[in-house]
Amino acid sequence: MRQRSKPMSASPRAQLLARSPQHVAAGAVLFVGWNTDDLLHLHENDCLPRGSAVTCTHFGEYEVTRRHAESLGISQVAFDLPDSRANAFELAVVDLPQGREAREMGFHRIAALLAESGSVLVAGETRSGIKPARTALGEMFASVETLDNARRCALVRATQRNASLAVSTDLEPWFTEQAFTVADTTVTVCSLPGVFSHGELDHGTQLLLETLVDDVSMNVLDVGCGCGIIGAWLHQREPGRRVEMIDCDALALTAAKRTAQRNNLPTDAVYASDVYDQVSESFDLIVSNPPFHRGVNTAHDVGERLVTEAVSLLNPGGRLRFVANSFLPYPRLLDAHFPRWKTIEDDGKFRVYEVRVAAASRR
Ligand SMILES: C[S@@+](CC[C@H](N)C(=O)[O-])C[C@H]1O[C@@H](n2cnc3c(N)ncnc32)[C@H](O)[C@@H]1O
Repeated sequence: MRQRSKPMSASPRAQLLARSPQHVAAGAVLFVGWNTDDLLHLHENDCLPRGSAVTCTHFGEYEVTRRHAESLGISQVAFDLPDSRANAFELAVVDLPQGREAREMGFHRIAALLAESGSVLVAGETRSGIKPARTALGEMFASVETLDNARRCALVRATQRNASLAVSTDLEPWFTEQAFTVADTTVTVCSLPGVFSHGELDHGTQLLLETLVDDVSMNVLDVGCGCGIIGAWLHQREPGRRVEMIDCDALALTAAKRTAQRNNLPTDAVYASDVYDQVSESFDLIVSNPPFHRGVNTAHDVGERLVTEAVSLLNPGGRLRFVANSFLPYPRLLDAHFPRWKTIEDDGKFRVYEVRVAAASRR
């Protein structure tokens, strides 16, 4: 497993939570969505009761947290929420999900895992929507209070869930299904709240697909597949080709598996991976619309890994083709690592870049 190249520090919301250990009483506690550095910080500040369960939404964090579970006293680490009410938690401590619908869905699913008397503690930043989150919790719980405020974050507690409220961990009611057509090829895309470009076709993605109309590569890897639109479209254009799709996000993977199913792709072609960590095959073509955010923060690490590590997974003559906002510093990165690369398309807002490895030798 890959090690972090540099240690991250605890997020402002974890720092806020850590100064209130009295609110995280021992008992059956579930931590949702926290990264390992935040969990380490909470542990150091007596805010992670021994025997707590942890649910990670990012596969890389899941892998690292699993490795630290014993030293942190964590009893179980899962990738995404369990489906059943096997555990009735007294308290869920939640790192605020992004986006109104994703928050609503997250709170409903988490509430389904609580005991009757269970409560939810949510820490989040103002710019991530902690105020609307408070309102959303107010529709589900009789009592909602802000316990603390600092560092542009708030800590909100919701107790006494409305007994009449129907809650479930089931994702079924949240799925959307839409058809998108790019260059005469239509794909049915399934998505969930919180997944990138939910219910829409991203302009950058469309531009990237338009450059692939004549592509006949037979082995393709879609990195950061989101709802699976790129992989599904490539499969529809050339059903005989092998397409693998990877993402680190639990909800994205659930959506992409369903998109794969709808487009007659095998669902085991969709799997969790932190960039290339779990990829064992090599490919003629690697495609991506890489992220440049993590939560509300700008982050270039995934894009950098996408570019710099691609070579080792490409067959001789293979290509990495990806789309990015024009203002992102990919030309500098490409110059630093490759003697030759091309801008395939540039519409002023987005650019599609390509790197091709030598036909004869594989580095
Ligand atoms: C800009 S979205 C593109 C989604 C999809 N390919 C599309 O075009 O609609 C980037 C995707 O990368 C995923 N991602 C972010 N970090 C990642 C990582 N470390 N490893 C794999 N995927 C990652 C995100 O979850 C997100 O689905």
